[in-house]
Amino acid sequence: MIHVVRYDSPQDWAEHVAARFAAFLADEPAARVALPTGATPEPVYAGIVEAVSAGIASFRRAHVFLLDEFGGVPPDAKGRCDVMLHRALLDHVDVTPSHYHRLDPEAEDVAAMCAAYDAELKQPLDLVMLGIGRNGHVGMNEPGTSPDSATRRVELAPSTTQASVRYFGEGAALPTWGITIGLSAILAARTIWLLANGEGKADIVRDVLLEPVSATRPASLLRGHPNCWFFVDAAAASKLPVGVLSRG
Ligand code: PGA
Repeated sequence: MIHVVRYDSPQDWAEHVAARFAAFLADEPAARVALPTGATPEPVYAGIVEAVSAGIASFRRAHVFLLDEFGGVPPDAKGRCDVMLHRALLDHVDVTPSHYHRLDPEAEDVAAMCAAYDAELKQPLDLVMLGIGRNGHVGMNEPGTSPDSATRRVELAPSTTQASVRYFGEGAALPTWGITIGLSAILAARTIWLLANGEGKADIVRDVLLEPVSATRPASLLRGHPNCWFFVDAAAASKLPVGVLSRG
């Protein structure tokens, strides 16, 4: 069952989701969380940084798992997920370095690295936070992904490669593959939060919630999860009928 919570403005949305995250961490300081990168979570991370600076929550005992990572581009490229997560969040909070788990596309044996990551995810995550691609991907689980997929190397949809220009910059080499936590570990998490803002996500948010559940829109598979929340701003919710919404 998915709870869909709508906020009137992007500011309200970011502020409330950040406050919910801070409250979650205050309640469960040793939580194991998987975190996304990209444009969507950035304002939320800014709010979380404020909450941690104010002493409302701490990452010290938490474990942070990077949700996905681009391969085939330099490790210090500004669009790498690890680089984005450091820039937006990790560099500004008290996360314990050994409690941060990243995916390494430069690993000599990527399959072994993925298997080791999955072994760490055998104990279900307490919270997975997700963005959503316009094609319905979550993490880099592109259309057609099986619900029992593991952490693995994936080829990106051409639209995902193109969309990554906003992370890597005009003229930079863009990734065509990546590594992602699979749908299996996402669906096994105790709690899932999917974040969407802006009118560019309105069509996919509607389709994911109202069209039949299908691997062609991986985010729709979340509808079978017992504790999944979609936090959307008014623009991302603009194509939804009022009946499916709660007010944030
Ligand atoms: P975005 O990307 O947050 O930059 O829109 C989301 C995604 O493609 O998963």
